[in-house]
Amino acid sequence: MKRFFNMKPSLFYVSFIFIITSSIASAAEDAVKDATGKKVLNNVPYHIGPVTTAKGGGFKLTDTMNNKKICPFDVVQDPSASNLGDKFTFTLINEKRPPYLLTTHNLGIDSGSLKGPCEKSTFWTIPDAEAKAPDNLITTGGRFEEDITCFQLVEYPKPTNPKVHSYMLQHCPYYCGGAPNICFNVSIYVDKGVRRLASRGTHPFEFVFHKVSK
Ligand SMILES: *[C@@H]1O[C@H](CO)[C@@H](O)[C@H](O)[C@H]1NC(C)=O
Repeated sequence: MKRFFNMKPSLFYVSFIFIITSSIASAAEDAVKDATGKKVLNNVPYHIGPVTTAKGGGFKLTDTMNNKKICPFDVVQDPSASNLGDKFTFTLINEKRPPYLLTTHNLGIDSGSLKGPCEKSTFWTIPDAEAKAPDNLITTGGRFEEDITCFQLVEYPKPTNPKVHSYMLQHCPYYCGGAPNICFNVSIYVDKGVRRLASRGTHPFEFVFHKVSK
């Protein structure tokens, strides 16, 4: 204690600021919760959907755009409010494999099995996050632990329903060894009425996790 008070004032403030910032950092890292408030399991399939179904249901892969076949596939919102969409597996990039998902940690998002002969891989990727749509759309096609498949979950800043845990997704290639040194907020890009996920768009992508019923 004596040593602490004998510190030079500048050193005192540096330690003080350090303590404050490290407690903010640990507060930002939190277990992710599903729509019912239960912790979301790491590396387990879930449905992801909107907070309100006013604009449609859950998210799924699609192999069409403007009535043309596309490959790799895009991620879109199902227009039907009652559809839960596909199952997606969020996996933290961490050799210790904690049991639950954490916010502000690098992760990969897997769509499961290959859905067609042209699909090379099932991980969500943004090949060029700085490009304009459609080149900055989320597609399948990357591998786990690559810069282009590197995402983080962030608690949604101003949740639509404060009683429900909602999240946004950030694409952070830099944290997995890529560039540039920023995180892109995944947003909804509305194209001819179809709501697709992209590195930027017309609406922020606010979503909740739904446990898959057996
Ligand atoms: C991402 O969203 C957050 C929260 O709304 C905002 O503060 C931040 O400026 C956004 N970042 C970018 C790069 O748009």
